[in-house]
Amino acid sequence: MFPAGLKTVYVAGMVENPSSPQALAGKTIVLGVTGSIAAYKAADLTSQLVKAGAAVHVVMTEAATRIVAPVTLQTLSRRPVWVDMWEPGLHWQPHHIELADKADLLVVAPATAHTLACFAHGLAPNLLCTLYLATRAPVLLAPAMNSKMLAHPATQENLRLLEERGHHLLETDEGMLACGYEGRGKLAAVDTIFQRILELLSHRP
Ligand SMILES: Cc1cc2nc3c(=O)[nH]c(=O)nc-3n(C[C@H](O)[C@H](O)[C@H](O)COP(=O)(O)O)c2cc1C
Repeated sequence: MFPAGLKTVYVAGMVENPSSPQALAGKTIVLGVTGSIAAYKAADLTSQLVKAGAAVHVVMTEAATRIVAPVTLQTLSRRPVWVDMWEPGLHWQPHHIELADKADLLVVAPATAHTLACFAHGLAPNLLCTLYLATRAPVLLAPAMNSKMLAHPATQENLRLLEERGHHLLETDEGMLACGYEGRGKLAAVDTIFQRILELLSHRP
């Protein structure tokens, strides 16, 4: 028995509540997850995005897989998680090209100092960095790192380059960091990242 007014629709084995807000229905988001201790928060973000109707394709770096298990993000996104550039994709195209072309938005949350440096300088050692170069979708970056790594001139210069390139950068939060330091460098709150994604995608047809 369902409560009055609530109808459950079965779609390809999934149960959907038609009254839930599907603000991101029809949108394809590639979510890059990199090797920050905050990678576990990508699970919550993935869940929120999927509940809002988005098709979320998760791409993890090797370092991220040491922190959070791909199966967690695979289950929450209801799709395969991509890590290895050399693994055959679902179709004939290499998946860094396929995902790059279909993305309405590339979000990297959390974004490590290393991945930001690769993006800033056009290095492509892995699937996520290669995909970044291949996509023409807007890019939203949510850095997370130790406060000294963040304040380092190299990181600051990379962030400046990425902003200058027209990418959307979320400010890190301040507080107690997982590394034991107090200061700036915490990943922006998942709700803040989610709201920013909504804003960016609501302007796109
Ligand atoms: C437990 C742990 C936590 C880490 N957290 C961060 C972090 O929050 N931010 C960061 O930039 N690097 C962090 N690192 C270092 C990165 O994992 C490392 O630079 C790695 O090469 C990043 O690779 P990726 O950008 O390809 O994911 C951490 C390393 C470890 C072992």
